[in-house]
Amino acid sequence: MSNQILETIQNRRAVFQKQYHDTDISEQDLQAILEAANAAPTHKRTEPWRFVIFKNKGLSKLGTELSRIYQEITPEKEYSPKKAEKTKEKATSANVAFAIIVHYSGKVPEWEELAATACAVQNMWLAAHSLGIGAYWSSPKTIHHLDDFLGLKENQKCIGLFYMGHADLSDSAPKRGDIEGKILRRIEE
Ligand SMILES: Cc1cc2nc3c(=O)[nH]c(=O)nc-3n(C[C@H](O)[C@H](O)[C@H](O)COP(=O)(O)O)c2cc1C
Repeated sequence: MSNQILETIQNRRAVFQKQYHDTDISEQDLQAILEAANAAPTHKRTEPWRFVIFKNKGLSKLGTELSRIYQEITPEKEYSPKKAEKTKEKATSANVAFAIIVHYSGKVPEWEELAATACAVQNMWLAAHSLGIGAYWSSPKTIHHLDDFLGLKENQKCIGLFYMGHADLSDSAPKRGDIEGKILRRIEE
């Protein structure tokens, strides 16, 4: 059985910076991706997903900050200038990046806010894919040190960066394990 939604779910995959083309993501497409996030399910309608959007020079600022944090949190013996440069490049070679933030309302358990925000990310990922935009969720250690840079409040936490760029999405099939081994039991009577 197949339809467009099922096909998009099956074909979505993590698409990285080296695959991104130079073409800009339009404001209309960005809005569609954000609206997809906003359509995620939430317990008590807390709608806990928040985003900080980086484009153009904003991406350089993000890259510089990630690289600075990498240097700050890495013991001298382990520090690699090459990794610092690569860390910066990840931001500057995306077309747009969103910082993914959970806003804890206190109205439901924290795990539910986190789960709802992850649903919002999956919605964005599917929307991006359907628009010919490659994307992935990046979660380096540096994201736990971005609070001041992002202007977060006490009840907000950055859980990753969502990098995006137009890409050829037809060049490789996603690799996934079978569902059969993930069904623990069938209880039918
Ligand atoms: C919560 C979360 C965090 C992730 N963090 C990273 C990351 O830091 N770096 C990375 O390369 N991919 C990251 N990914 C993307 C996964 O590598 C990717 O989804 C996985 O390889 C499965 O491939 P697929 O998305 O193409 O099916 C993350 C995915 C999730 C759901």
